[in-house]
Amino acid sequence: MAGNRGGVLAAVLAVVLLRCLTSFAVNVTYDHRALVIDGSRRVLVSGSIHYPRSTPDMWPDLIQKSKDGGLDVIETYVFWDLHEPTRNQFDFEGRKDLVKFVKLVGDAGLYVHLRIGPYVCAEWNYGGFPLWLHFIPGIEFRTDNEPFKVEMQRFTAFIVNMMKQEKLYASQGGPIILSQIENEYGNVASSYGPRAKSYINWAAAMATSLDTGVPWIMCQQADAPDPIINTCNGFYCDNFTPNSAKKPKMWTENWSGWFSAFGGPVPYRPVEDVAFAVARFYQRNGTFQNYYMYHGGTNFGRSSGGPFVSTSYDYDAPLDEYGLLRQPKYGHLKDLHKAIKLCEEAMVSSDASTTSLGSNLEGTIYKKTESGLCSAFLANFGAVSDATVNFNGNSYHLPAWSVSILPDCKNVAFNTAKINSVATISSFVSQSSKSDNSEASLSDWSWITEPVGISSDNAFTRVGLVEQINTTADQSDYLWYSLSIDIKGDEPFLENGSHAVLHVQSLGHALHAFVNGIFSGSGRGNSGNSKVVLDVPINLLPGANKIDLLSLTVGLQNYGGHYDLRGAGVTGPVHLKSSNSSSITDLSSQQWKYQIGLKGEELSLSDGVSSLWTSGSSLPTNQPLIWYKTTFDAPEGDNPLAIDFTGMGKGEAWVNGESIGRYWPAYTASTTGACTNSCNYKGHYDDRKCLKDCGKPSQTFYHVPRSWLKPSGNVLVLFEETGGDPTRTSFATREVVSVCSRISESHPTPIDTWAISSDARKQAGPTMSLECPHPDQLISSIKFASFGTPHGTCGSYSHGKCSSNNALSILQEACLGSRSCSVGVSISTFGDPCAGVTKSLAVEASCT
Ligand code: GAL
Repeated sequence: MAGNRGGVLAAVLAVVLLRCLTSFAVNVTYDHRALVIDGSRRVLVSGSIHYPRSTPDMWPDLIQKSKDGGLDVIETYVFWDLHEPTRNQFDFEGRKDLVKFVKLVGDAGLYVHLRIGPYVCAEWNYGGFPLWLHFIPGIEFRTDNEPFKVEMQRFTAFIVNMMKQEKLYASQGGPIILSQIENEYGNVASSYGPRAKSYINWAAAMATSLDTGVPWIMCQQADAPDPIINTCNGFYCDNFTPNSAKKPKMWTENWSGWFSAFGGPVPYRPVEDVAFAVARFYQRNGTFQNYYMYHGGTNFGRSSGGPFVSTSYDYDAPLDEYGLLRQPKYGHLKDLHKAIKLCEEAMVSSDASTTSLGSNLEGTIYKKTESGLCSAFLANFGAVSDATVNFNGNSYHLPAWSVSILPDCKNVAFNTAKINSVATISSFVSQSSKSDNSEASLSDWSWITEPVGISSDNAFTRVGLVEQINTTADQSDYLWYSLSIDIKGDEPFLENGSHAVLHVQSLGHALHAFVNGIFSGSGRGNSGNSKVVLDVPINLLPGANKIDLLSLTVGLQNYGGHYDLRGAGVTGPVHLKSSNSSSITDLSSQQWKYQIGLKGEELSLSDGVSSLWTSGSSLPTNQPLIWYKTTFDAPEGDNPLAIDFTGMGKGEAWVNGESIGRYWPAYTASTTGACTNSCNYKGHYDDRKCLKDCGKPSQTFYHVPRSWLKPSGNVLVLFEETGGDPTRTSFATREVVSVCSRISESHPTPIDTWAISSDARKQAGPTMSLECPHPDQLISSIKFASFGTPHGTCGSYSHGKCSSNNALSILQEACLGSRSCSVGVSISTFGDPCAGVTKSLAVEASCT
């Protein structure tokens, strides 16, 4: 009996368990209008966060902030080189824990778009391909090539199976609703000839055969075969149409800013333009849009591609590199998402019905016929003139380059050019003066000198010059090219008392030349992948001389047709010429000696444990090829942490053995032309339109994840290539130091009050709210307050002609000593300093 009862119980339990496991399974399909999730079309907002560009302890916060910002979906690439550094040896630990990341997104109630690639571009080293792939006999990347297809299929299937085993597809109850195969192949297909087409057909069939139960997409692939959805990438995608009337209009990469490269200025993209692009897309039948990036993060280690992509991958994204909200970008897009969501029901019920409202003016209605539900978008896509349009019997003001969203076809909930969100100023706050604990500063350095030229037993000789990537397999950034030459004194380049000039040509990415152990000069390319040409006068002595060229890569190429074959290193010619005649002695085909990597790499100096470290008062500074080490206590608090590398040249840095990336503050962006003081958001944006930091280092601050630190006894190791002074480096924390808000009394009521009746909404009028983001912060001063016609932006407000004289005291009263405060933006609060004029309230408050 007992046994029988147990059997019944087990059966019941099994059924319950099965229900639990299957009841959350979600059916994801699509039609011409949208992704269809469990039978309902959805309007979705998505954002890219690449899991290895932050640390697992940051993930929950980034995901929560994404959710609070109004995202439904988080998109990530899968990085093959991280997961399979050696063929058939897999790694999913720490920052590489893809399953954990996907589960965290799912736990937060968000969906995942898994872009497997496995080619990913992404400003990632070699576009995400592991280097061993290049050495498979007969392989040709990204084309109809058997060895390549075998590997691509093996890795793609491996990831799909891993997700299936963990039940992470929506079809199994998990968060993954979408997957991508390949990446923007359509942009480069022409370089691959007729085999491009068969490759794409194969990739589509291969992906589909993996049977994930959710749709696959291909981005920038106009000929993506059914059932794969072809999607759009770009700064704008409202003009895009999918290749079949059965597929929805989807935008997989809306570049929220742009990446920065060493030696270049830092790009940014005004939020008014991002919001305009997004609203236009949804206005014109779009139903899925993804910010690339929502959080860009950091290229730790040697993961950045390029060449020359910087260690910061901040991207001017709504969440900054350190995970702080970038305001007003984050908040304005959050308001936009709320406005769009208010339209979702009408949007999924009909196709857009659009009419012209004049030149560059367009009105669109979405309607749910049965219920009379109606939502509208009104656009002014002219870059110059504001306009007033008549729509549905009402009149609406539309600033140039803006879209208004009317969830009820009548009231404006949101206009892309009118920012109601707070703004903030985030800064790196130096810890050197702040810290009570001197152990938390960077001092007491010890050092080891890296030998010039060949020092390893693994060196080898070759006749002629070798290509670098084929030689190092990217095991290191560095390759020594070393040559001994015997000088008799009668060489043509020394005749008539002239001195010799060393001429070196390299494919890049940078090069340091030493003659007889003495540094003679450097050359470097740029992110445009220009070649490096070096001409330096050198001193040669009678007898034996040594020429040592340290060639280095700065992130392997990640984009373009056949990008993998670009090559790097000193491929020549190398010659000696005379300073005052044209005579040339070619050295290219001599017998050269080679060493892959540095002695310090061979000795694993980056972990700091070697017994070779020297300390004392004679710390060498501003000399090339030095390893530096110090120990420190974790700076206090929980604010994100960075090292200010001012004073250093170029190199790589490790904290407790983990590489925080390449640093290169010595490479400054050119001062000419590119940067303007302000950037007009109106009109088409491209990655060169809005640039800052001309004439400055592309990157001064380098992220040190808090989770890599212990309370005390942390080890920082630097390898400095060109010369620097580590005593000038210091810690800084990333903090919001000011919060600002500027709200007009005539602004549409903030979206938050939409739910209340429209009469109540009118009465409520706009409210200004300020909050210091960190729970320990309080508003310590009101730096500026004006109700009237103030000018400027956060950090540079000034009073206009009209200004009430009580704004400062009202704000001080309401805000000082509190973490947050709000005041009504109306003459009932401030009185009326200029009747008949539309007034605004602008406030900047300090948070400490
Ligand atoms: C796209 C590519 C992305 C990224 C982006 C620029 O072309 O698909 O992976 O490289 O450009 O940030």
